Amino acid sequence: MQERYVMKISTPFTAMLGIDLPIIGAPMFLVSYEELAIAVSEAGGLGMFPLPNYRTVSDLEAALENIRRRTDRPIGVNIHLSGRFEWQAQLEVCLNYGVTFFISSLGDPRQIIEPVHARGGFVFADVITRRHALSAMKKGVDGLVAVAAGAGGHAGQTPTMVLVPYLKELTGLPVLAAGGVSTGKQLAAALALGACGAVVGTRLVASEEACATQEYKQAVVEAGPDDIVYSSKITGNWANWLAQSAAQFDGHPEIGSKKWQDLWSAGRSVAQADGILPAGQIVSEMAEKCAATLLQMPKLIEP
Ligand SMILES: Cc1cc2nc3c(=O)[nH]c(=O)nc-3n(C[C@H](O)[C@H](O)[C@H](O)COP(=O)(O)O)c2cc1C
Repeated sequence: MQERYVMKISTPFTAMLGIDLPIIGAPMFLVSYEELAIAVSEAGGLGMFPLPNYRTVSDLEAALENIRRRTDRPIGVNIHLSGRFEWQAQLEVCLNYGVTFFISSLGDPRQIIEPVHARGGFVFADVITRRHALSAMKKGVDGLVAVAAGAGGHAGQTPTMVLVPYLKELTGLPVLAAGGVSTGKQLAAALALGACGAVVGTRLVASEEACATQEYKQAVVEAGPDDIVYSSKITGNWANWLAQSAAQFDGHPEIGSKKWQDLWSAGRSVAQADGILPAGQIVSEMAEKCAATLLQMPKLIEP
């Protein structure tokens, strides 16, 4: 466990989780594993990974054992509550290892809210529309992840700038912004919109700890926003992809399921991903620049 960065940016989310920074390392299929989660949490944010990254419950146990040996900071997981996954067993293991934060996607979050609350944890739901948000609210989630247009992975069509305040007003729940946050200025903007934190995916694909090939990381660094395509042809759900990787699958759904490693998802915030760096450094710089931006803002006002 390393010496931790001391600055804090406090929001209702950081208070809820007992963390220093409102920066959540996004759960990313086949990209975020223990190394990335540990680095983000040790830097003061909240490291996460999606449970489908581990094929068996004992693989998951080994991962959590590794994490617990190396950090005492909170971590979170993304749980897929559909029939395809052994989510009940996965949930039990996570709770036993003290995981306190869950983002639910696919399926009904009511199934996990009670056991998670019983251990003092929180359940947020990934949402992209008004209908999703109202349904998750009625089911009793503690907050929402507003997955906005341009986010890496499966994404909606409403920009972060609109979706975050809209969902907050609609539901009154804490809202995390997901989509388009790669820098401290963008984090400051998300906080100004009323988000209680930001889920950072694309920027962290280009981190040393991400489990992505060097070519994929480099492609994220080199791409501009026009190199991202929004397509439903690859997995059946609308998602953002680096155009060069999407092109080879377009019209060939049969290869999509077999070559996940060659499928490079990323969002439009590739625009600000400017180098392959240690994740802890990305988080710390984002926090410093966010704080500097927030401190500059009052100077815009003329009394
Ligand atoms: C490669 C990749 C894989 C992803 N996989 C998942 C996933 O398994 N579960 C999930 O809830 N979100 C997933 N996402 C979405 C992220 O958790 C997050 O919401 C999104 O990346 C935030 O937007 P940004 O990419 O603009 O930072 C993925 C994103 C990327 C880039």
